[in-house]
Amino acid sequence: MARIVESDWRIIERILAPSAPIEKHGIVINEGFRFCAFGKTKSGKTSLMRAVVYSAIAMGYARIALVHDTKGIFPEYPHSVMLPNVAAFRRRGMQGGDIPVYSFRGDPRHDVQCTAEEVAALAKELGQKGTGDGGLWLPYPTVTVIEELAEASTASGKNLKAPAVGWLAAQGRKVGNSLVATTQRPKKAAEDVITQASASSFGRLEPADINYLAERMDLPGAMVDAIRGPDGDGLPMHRFVLRTDDGPWDGIVHCLDKSTAQMFE
Ligand SMILES: Nc1ncnc2c1ncn2[C@@H]1O[C@H](COP(=O)(O)OP(=O)(O)OP(=O)(O)O)[C@@H](O)[C@H]1O
Ligand SMILES: [Mg+2]
Repeated sequence: MARIVESDWRIIERILAPSAPIEKHGIVINEGFRFCAFGKTKSGKTSLMRAVVYSAIAMGYARIALVHDTKGIFPEYPHSVMLPNVAAFRRRGMQGGDIPVYSFRGDPRHDVQCTAEEVAALAKELGQKGTGDGGLWLPYPTVTVIEELAEASTASGKNLKAPAVGWLAAQGRKVGNSLVATTQRPKKAAEDVITQASASSFGRLEPADINYLAERMDLPGAMVDAIRGPDGDGLPMHRFVLRTDDGPWDGIVHCLDKSTAQMFE
């Protein structure tokens, strides 16, 4: 993997922090991270998320990434194994030489649907099974990527219609499963996932969405002002503010280096 510039690596490291392995009672565990990226279309959500996901794999914090990406004509993870659904993954299996990043894209031309729920259910299954081969259970950390969280939520946006996604958000840490999600529609994205996040990024957003997130997530005033941007109508494209649950806000409006944003395109 090409080297990520130092300043970007520091951001990614903070997001990944809960998934760094720790030793407890003689076994090595990792709690996984839960990361939400909010922002309008083309604001840079996927670019940040991709750098985080590939870094998690490169660091060994996750063994495999499962990406639910049925959004567009072009895949969000071009450097991944593209599959229509989980059934195709089971038929094919993991093969030597695979980048361990699997995109589940559905296949509209053949009426093959793929829900976020089935991808999350696969991650849950892998996490629960671990690597023990019937003996001692050892973690098999995964990272599940939900490219549009609103699609896994009920129409009102208050809850999840995808119980396995909810399980990953609430229980996944117990088996080392990480969950990351992006959304253009914060009001339509399930609160269970948003409120369980260990890290969240806020890119360019509509004022109404900013107010909604500020209230739901109880964001500090100075941070909300930063997210409103210099003219009050949102941050410029590719800029974001980062919240992590392990410390106070750093007071910085971040922007990834172009090389990082484009590294995995
Ligand atoms: N820091 C950056 N510097 C330069 N270009 C960037 C940066 N961040 C993102 N971009 C570029 O902006 C474009 C849109 O970014 P990205 O795909 O991450 O947006 P997105 O928020 O995921 O959009 P969508 O909601 O439509 O999926 C990409 O072509 C990407 O290369
Ligand atoms: Mg995107």
